[in-house]
Amino acid sequence: MKTIDELLTEGVAGKRVFVRADLNVPLDGATITDDGRIRAVVPTIAKLAEAGARVIVASHLGRPKGAADPAFSLAPVARRLGELLAAEVVFAADTVGESATAVTAGLADGQVAVIENLRFNAGETSKDDAERAAFADLLALLADVYVGDGFGAVHRKHASVYDLPARLPHAAGYLIATEVGVLKKLTEDVQRPYVVALGGSKVSDKLGVIDHLLEKADRILIGGGMAYTFLKAQGHEVGTSLLQEDQIPAVREYLARAKDKGVEFVLPVDVLVAGAFPDLRTKAPAHPATVAADAIPADQLGLDIGPETCRLYASKLADAATVFWNGPMGVFEHPDYAEGTKAVAQALVDSPAFSVVGGGDSAAAVRILGFDEKAFSHISTGGGASLEYLEGKTLPGLAALED
Ligand code: 3PG
Repeated sequence: MKTIDELLTEGVAGKRVFVRADLNVPLDGATITDDGRIRAVVPTIAKLAEAGARVIVASHLGRPKGAADPAFSLAPVARRLGELLAAEVVFAADTVGESATAVTAGLADGQVAVIENLRFNAGETSKDDAERAAFADLLALLADVYVGDGFGAVHRKHASVYDLPARLPHAAGYLIATEVGVLKKLTEDVQRPYVVALGGSKVSDKLGVIDHLLEKADRILIGGGMAYTFLKAQGHEVGTSLLQEDQIPAVREYLARAKDKGVEFVLPVDVLVAGAFPDLRTKAPAHPATVAADAIPADQLGLDIGPETCRLYASKLADAATVFWNGPMGVFEHPDYAEGTKAVAQALVDSPAFSVVGGGDSAAAVRILGFDEKAFSHISTGGGASLEYLEGKTLPGLAALED
C-alpha cells in the first residue's frame, strides 16, 4: 500500500487530490454533536494542502436514498473542517455536477474544497457494478490523484471507496495507516490477557466478530441491548427488553464453544430497568430500578448494566494487557443509563493495557461523556469497519489501495 508520504515525496503541488474521508458525524439538526471523525482526517488534509495540493474532500453522511436531501448535507461539516484547518474551505453544492466541476477547477494550490454528500448520487452505493463505475468515472474527472482516508467506510464496496482508486494513482492517508496499524496489534502477536467488551443493540451485528474472537480473546464481556439475547439464551426471562429471538441458537452455540475453548464469557449480573424507553430529547428523569439479571419483571425492559455488573466488569478489565471495546453498555445518551458505559470507559482509563475503542457509538460515548481521548491507546473512527477487520474479512476500501 503506497503511503501518503511517498506521494508527498513524488510531489503533489498543483495536483488535484481527491481525499475520500469518512465525515459521517452525528448531527442534531445542523449541529455536529461529535466532530471526532473530522478531526481525525485533518492531518492528511493539512499535509496535502501545505504541500500545495488542490484538495478535494469527499464523504458520505447518513443514509440518504440516492438523491439530494438537505437533512444530510455536508455543509455543516465543511464549515467545521474550515475551523479546524483555520483556512477557507470551499463548498460544492453537488457531487459531480456544475458546482463541483467549477469549484474543483477553480481551486488554487493549497486550497481545500468539500463536495456534497456522495450518497446524493445513487451510483455511490449501487450494487450494480456498471452504475457504480459510471459514477466513479465522473468523480475521476475531478482529480489527478486519490487518497483513501475514510477508514470508517472501507468495509463498503462503494464507488468512491472501491471503484475510484482503480481509476487514479492512489495512496493511503495517515488515518487509514494508523487504524490498520492498531488493528494489526489486535490480530497479530496480541499481548495477553486480551479482554473484549461488546455492547450495542443488536447481537446480529456482532456475530461475526464474536465467532472470530472466540479464537483470539481470553475474556468477553457482554453489555448493551445485545446482552438480553444472551440472558434469554441462558434461560432467563428478559421482560420487554430488546431481544433477537432468532439469534438464540447462535448465541447458545457461542456460549458452549467459549466453554470448550476456555474463553471466559461474562454476562450482566444486574441491570437497570424501567417500564419504557427514556425520552432522549427531554432527558426527563427515568427513575430506573436495579434488578438481578435473572429477575427482570415481565413488564420492564433493561436499559443499562447495573452497579454490581459495573464493578464486575471493571475487575475483569483490570488485569488486561490488551482491550478492545465496541458498543455502549446501555442507553448512555440518557444520564440515568450512562453509568455502565462510563464504568467500562473508566476501567480502560485506569488500566495500563493497550486499549482500543472500536468506533461508532462507543467512540462518540467516550467523548460525549467527557473522557480524555488521550487516556485510551486508540479511539477508532470505524465501528463496522474495525469489526469487519477483526472478523478477518477483506475490506474493499483497503484492497483497492493495495496495488
Ligand atoms: C459508519 O458510520 O459506520 C460509517 O460511516 C459507514 O456508514 P454506513 O454504515 O452508513 O455505510
